[in-house]
Amino acid sequence: MLTITKVIGVFFSTTGNAEQIVLESGEYIAHNLGVPFESENFTKHDEQRDVLTFSEGDLVIFGTPIYAGRISNKILSLVKNMFQGNGAFALPMVVFGDRRFDNSLVDLASELKKNNFNILAAGACACAYDFSEMNLDRPNTDDRKHREAFCATVVDKTFAATMPLDDLEIKGNTGVTGSYLSVADSGEQAAPIFKAQPVSLEKKADSSGVGASLFPMGSIKKADTVAGSFVKNNNDAQSVLSHTEMPGQTNTMPVISEFFL
Ligand SMILES: Cc1cc2nc3c(=O)[nH]c(=O)nc-3n(C[C@H](O)[C@H](O)[C@H](O)COP(=O)(O)O)c2cc1C
Repeated sequence: MLTITKVIGVFFSTTGNAEQIVLESGEYIAHNLGVPFESENFTKHDEQRDVLTFSEGDLVIFGTPIYAGRISNKILSLVKNMFQGNGAFALPMVVFGDRRFDNSLVDLASELKKNNFNILAAGACACAYDFSEMNLDRPNTDDRKHREAFCATVVDKTFAATMPLDDLEIKGNTGVTGSYLSVADSGEQAAPIFKAQPVSLEKKADSSGVGASLFPMGSIKKADTVAGSFVKNNNDAQSVLSHTEMPGQTNTMPVISEFFL
């Protein structure tokens, strides 16, 4: 039996999907283990400063969105630098919107492992696509039932497992480095995605500071233009389909959650 004394939900979530998945899963697991639950949101730049240190007995449910089949380099560097496991258990969970999770779950689990977390289980959860019209009803009732069954099995695993945990096999390729280069459903290589070149519409700026307060990377300054980095993978293709059109046009396969125990 594994000793778990607290469940902590930790998430980066620009449009709320990872947040919802982490909070629902964390509350369910904590309730069924009879331990307290708390959460940490590291989405906004002013919340990204302190290193969070965990310890044995903690179960950390770790949620991020997937961008272009990977954990974005910007989010991954936060994961690398902000979280110390010290033997805590981790449950990495990625959320995605239009097709598959590609290498993202392996990306997240590998970084957490390097930071001394023991990977107990992992999940990739189908959600709404944040900047297209795709899958607006996700997660739906079936998605929730599927995820709840997974969480129930995680609870059972904490009663049945002993340390050291067996290595968890997660779909993906641990040898992938660098930026995203998708392998399309056909098995052929798709075009690498583009280098983002942000443009600010100064006429629309109203100096209210709303953008500056909400933008995760701190790249929008109050009453000013774009000033810093964006959550985007760095690739060099010159011409691509508009990113808002791309999801609906290129991805027609069913979007299904997958869990690993
Ligand atoms: C730049 C960018 C790239 C994305 N790439 C993918 C992708 O490759 N596959 C996918 O299924 N969803 C992709 N998505 C959709 C998000 O992963 C999805 O909407 C997720 O639920 C957002 O999580 P959040 O609400 O916690 O921010 C992308 C979203 C953005 C903004």
